[in-house]
Amino acid sequence: MKITIVGAGNMARGIATRALAGGHTVTITAKDPGKAVLLVDELGEQADGAGRLSAAGESAVEQAYIVVLAVPFDAAEQLAASYGPRLAGKVLIDISNPVDATLDALVVAPGTSAAERIAAAAGEQVRVVKAFNTTFATTLVTGQVDGTPLDVFIASDDEGARKEVAELVASGGLNPVDVRRTQARTPTGGLPAAPHGAPAQRRRPRLGQHHQDRRPLNPSSASPTAGPPPPRGRQWSPTLTRRTTPCTPAPPSPRSPRPRPC
Ligand SMILES: NC(=O)c1ccc[n+]([C@@H]2O[C@H](COP(=O)([O-])OP(=O)(O)OC[C@H]3O[C@@H](n4cnc5c(N)ncnc54)[C@H](OP(=O)(O)O)[C@@H]3O)[C@@H](O)[C@H]2O)c1
Repeated sequence: MKITIVGAGNMARGIATRALAGGHTVTITAKDPGKAVLLVDELGEQADGAGRLSAAGESAVEQAYIVVLAVPFDAAEQLAASYGPRLAGKVLIDISNPVDATLDALVVAPGTSAAERIAAAAGEQVRVVKAFNTTFATTLVTGQVDGTPLDVFIASDDEGARKEVAELVASGGLNPVDVRRTQARTPTGGLPAAPHGAPAQRRRPRLGQHHQDRRPLNPSSASPTAGPPPPRGRQWSPTLTRRTTPCTPAPPSPRSPRPRPC
């Protein structure tokens, strides 16, 4: 398959590595063309896949069958709108986690999702798929953790597009998990917000749940956007430790003459 990745950052590196391992033809395009060339040079030296790799200008999105928006959510939405008709009939993969710069809040309103916003921006001819937003960029490069292939959750209202992305994922040595539709079960587009490797009972609450509770997204390293996963052996916990609501110390009582802290 011909795949164009927009962006030359960490996720572009990881997804390109997996796609090359799967034998696909990968083109990288970036707003700074020099960064696309640098990534191609780096991957050309390190990737052991059978696929072909090149850097190109923005018109590469028209040549591809699958386009991956490996950029922050706000940029992804803008690019989807600007590409618009040029992507008609193509599969457009949204990998974003729609959080603000400090990872404290969602940037999409409750009741919608990043994938829905990107689909609306791109237009109804574009087959938007949500995938890769729960995999860390660094582990994507290796494709596995402790010998276990990464799960890649895939959501789309287009069943054919889901299957095609599942083939891409499987060809790169990863484990595709079909989670069906992109509608806003979570702001990530129907997908869980747990990093790969977190067992189900320890997975963080859904992003929408955080938002409703007015608690922050856990800004720890467990977030895929926040950096590498916690070191092995450390329990990943969904417990939120930072409050955003004001704390009112309990008043003194006869048994406890000092104000009690929160
Ligand atoms: N990192 C992870 O582990 C991880 C995991 C899951 C999902 N994600 C999601 O993946 C996406 C990319 O993350 P990343 O870690 O790869 O980020 P990154 O390393 O910072 O790379 C972001 C890329 O987007 C480009 N970019 C930024 N603003 C742009 C704009 N307005 N127009 C065009 N290109 C723009 C950057 O170009 P310049 O460098 O020239 O600014 C860079 O090439 C995000 O949506 C993130 O939520 C990340």
